[in-house]
Amino acid sequence: MYDVIVIGSGPGGYVAAIRSAQLGMKTAIVEKYSTLGGTCLNVGCIPSKALLDSSEHYHNATHTFKTHGIDIENPKVNLKQMMTRKDEVISQTCDGVKYLMDKNKIEVFHGIGSFVNSTTIQVLSDDKKKKNIEGKNIIIATGSKPNYFPGMEPDKKRIITSTEALKLKEIPVKMLVIGAGVIGLELGSVYKRLGSQVEVIEFAPQILPTMDLSIGKDFSKILKKEGFKFHLEHRVQKVENKGKKVIVKALNKKGVEVEIEGDYCLVAVGRKAFTAGLHLKNAGIDSNERGQIVVNEHLQSNVPNIYAIGDVVRGAMLAHKAEEEGVYAAEFISGQKPHINHNLIPGVVYTWPEIAAVGKTEQELIADKIEFKSGIFPIRALGRARASMDTNGMVKILADKETDEILGVHMIAPRAADLIMEAVTAMEYRASAEDLARICHPHPTYTEAIKEAALAATENRPLHI
Ligand code: FAD
Ligand code: NAI
Repeated sequence: MYDVIVIGSGPGGYVAAIRSAQLGMKTAIVEKYSTLGGTCLNVGCIPSKALLDSSEHYHNATHTFKTHGIDIENPKVNLKQMMTRKDEVISQTCDGVKYLMDKNKIEVFHGIGSFVNSTTIQVLSDDKKKKNIEGKNIIIATGSKPNYFPGMEPDKKRIITSTEALKLKEIPVKMLVIGAGVIGLELGSVYKRLGSQVEVIEFAPQILPTMDLSIGKDFSKILKKEGFKFHLEHRVQKVENKGKKVIVKALNKKGVEVEIEGDYCLVAVGRKAFTAGLHLKNAGIDSNERGQIVVNEHLQSNVPNIYAIGDVVRGAMLAHKAEEEGVYAAEFISGQKPHINHNLIPGVVYTWPEIAAVGKTEQELIADKIEFKSGIFPIRALGRARASMDTNGMVKILADKETDEILGVHMIAPRAADLIMEAVTAMEYRASAEDLARICHPHPTYTEAIKEAALAATENRPLHI
């Protein structure tokens, strides 16, 4: 009898297992694939960031080295080597998770986990062998899969999802991307930098439609300069594989059908919770119309000893959100009173420059009728930005009009993924814009843009503009 059985070894599941074991609970983890780490390590965060970094090096070699005074003859992409390095990064990271399981004495079962009842999990391994294991508590962390709509079903050859886009054997001449969200812009950037033409077809009137509207507006200008083409307000009707090319048929905002042709089409219109094969009914677990497992504020399903975390439940589909929920579930099971502030989960898009945000958008504050002040500082005004020739972007801070409390921070900036943590920390301690503005920031750094935006928000007195 285990104290905790975790199903799924992504960032939610493996972190839940580690925390359970740290708390002295006898823990097992079930993973259907041969490697641990889930979407994030195998086909998500880690491989995409490896390719983003490699392609950015190439882009710099061909675009900025010369101005920096570095002459190299005809740099070329060796896609095979780029993919090999990415695969090595994946396997090192997945091996690291295996090491952590062993170190924490967590028993790993490889096979499809399914409920026999609310305390028994059947593990069906690749060689069709079945084994039942018993757990007092079960944590479901089975994650998500790519979503698509009728007419755009991926054939995984020319009409692809992020999983195939991470292992293409050739650089597309023209890549079509359906969806100007996170995956579309990150993987679109990879192939744009490697030389593909990239055309993005988006249903909403702007890119990154769920973020603060100023982000999409500013960032589309940056991407257009890089050569991206956007078809906004286009509703995709059908995608056809025509052998060596694909055709996307979409209705534009006037209702006229347009055809866009390329040689690959990446479908990136969101992800959906994954529970296939779990046999939730055998344990009486409720899911909703979106396939997500329904949980209360303690991540407990309607069956009290069964919890669910990460992409398979409501909320942002992000690795760090899944991890926090993994820790929460383990601590709650052990009798602690943990806490997660779901309003302060930062979101990052790893393009260049990077995009990062935390807290409320301007549109959400308006909808909630909260009066606010806004301070914006452009990256180009920083000495550090000119020194490194990275002058695109801005930091925007939204603060409560009365109390000056920081309510949201949105940025496009070099290393925004790291910069955003200053805002998250400040907001966790409910700092005011003036608090941030009065902190000494090192010079020359990109962090000075945060101080300046805070000065602009609190008293409209930035120093360097
Ligand atoms: P997953 O990571 O999806 O893990 C679920 C695991 O459960 C899988 O290993 C699966 O095989 C296993 N499983 C499912 N059913 C069963 C079963 N019945 N029995 C046994 N095992 C089962 N997020 C970020 O925060 N930052 C990023 O930079 C980022 N980049 C991304 C890039 C891409 C291309 C994609 C697709 C996603 C990215 N994400 C990123 C999102 C991130 O990968 C997910 O939010 C995260 O992996 C969710 O973690 P999870 O533990 O809930 O589920
Ligand atoms: P997304 O939700 O970010 O973007 C989907 C986009 O597709 C939206 O802009 C939407 O308006 C558009 N869309 C939807 N239906 C459409 C249609 N029929 N025609 C045209 N456009 C349409 O989803 P995405 O990019 O697939 O990513 C999935 C998840 O993976 C996200 O929730 C994200 O959190 C996670 N992820 C996170 C990353 C990160 O943290 N850096 C990187 C990659 C993925």
